[in-house]
Amino acid sequence: MTPPEGALSARSPVEAARERFRADALEGLAGTPKTLAPKYFYDRAGSLLFDEICELPEYYVTRAETALMRAHVGAIVASWGPRVRVVEPGAGSGTKTRLVLEALGPARCIEYVPVDISREHLGEAAAGLRRDMPWLRVTPLAADFSMDLPRASESDRAETVVYFPGSTIGNFEPAEAAQLLARFRRASSAVVIGVDLKKDPSVLHAAYNDSRGVTAAFNRNVLRRMNRELGADFDVASFAHYAFYEPARGRIEMHLVSRAPQVVTVAGRPFRFAAGESIRTECSYKYDLPTVERLAHAAELHPTNAWHDDERRFAVVELRPLA
Ligand code: AVJ
Repeated sequence: MTPPEGALSARSPVEAARERFRADALEGLAGTPKTLAPKYFYDRAGSLLFDEICELPEYYVTRAETALMRAHVGAIVASWGPRVRVVEPGAGSGTKTRLVLEALGPARCIEYVPVDISREHLGEAAAGLRRDMPWLRVTPLAADFSMDLPRASESDRAETVVYFPGSTIGNFEPAEAAQLLARFRRASSAVVIGVDLKKDPSVLHAAYNDSRGVTAAFNRNVLRRMNRELGADFDVASFAHYAFYEPARGRIEMHLVSRAPQVVTVAGRPFRFAAGESIRTECSYKYDLPTVERLAHAAELHPTNAWHDDERRFAVVELRPLA
């Protein structure tokens, strides 16, 4: 039995996602400067390249956060209640999520809710966790976490914690990041975020300009993805990877710079590039505790706890509503 369908719901989720990608790409490429949202890096090839980035000697981010979690997860979960629901925006099946769920254990973790726009990612994440932690109740939610999260429910006397690791918050402009945290606040009693910290710019620079060119391949892959999914005709080799740290804004910017004047067709529309013109494909904000505090306040939250790795490269910060 099929319910009546409107124009939008008649499309499969895959078609709807493709349509959003097309609309976002056309809008971003029509702007000045040209931009593309970093969430579009992560098709299958892009996700594999990101996994490879995480293993690079220069890319300290993932190792620093994992080391921090291994050292401090006991203290991190100690301040949560006796019954906890963990909501994770973005389907996490990785080491950090497992550390949190295992530290809570069957006695305290009543439910784990991964929220992801991709049913495929969700399915894989849930299956892996159910296999390794059979006691865990996993309730995947297929949704765009920047639009909707489950409401905090009071009926089961559990505390809901939104766990947002991986410095994903760094991909959001400060105003958007505050909006996102305000959403998380409305869905929980505590928000726990992982943030990459400001540090020697040469260390930051190297992390996004690795010697093996994996980050460059990751950056260019979004052009391949547009060629395949949006019928674009990017000559991938004619775009150079360019990444730098901008200290005034405290952010890494990644660009794809056209090596020559050219016209590229995307979804049937022409886009003109001057030689040296770029597409900005990512901003990755770096924080310190004062900027986290400012961000938190903008979302009516405040830091109640913070941990960092031994080398102070990365921090995990617990935020709770202002009293
Ligand atoms: C997934 C946002 C943490 O900004 O470091 C890695 C993505 N981009 N290398 C980051 C990324 C280039 C990454 N985050």
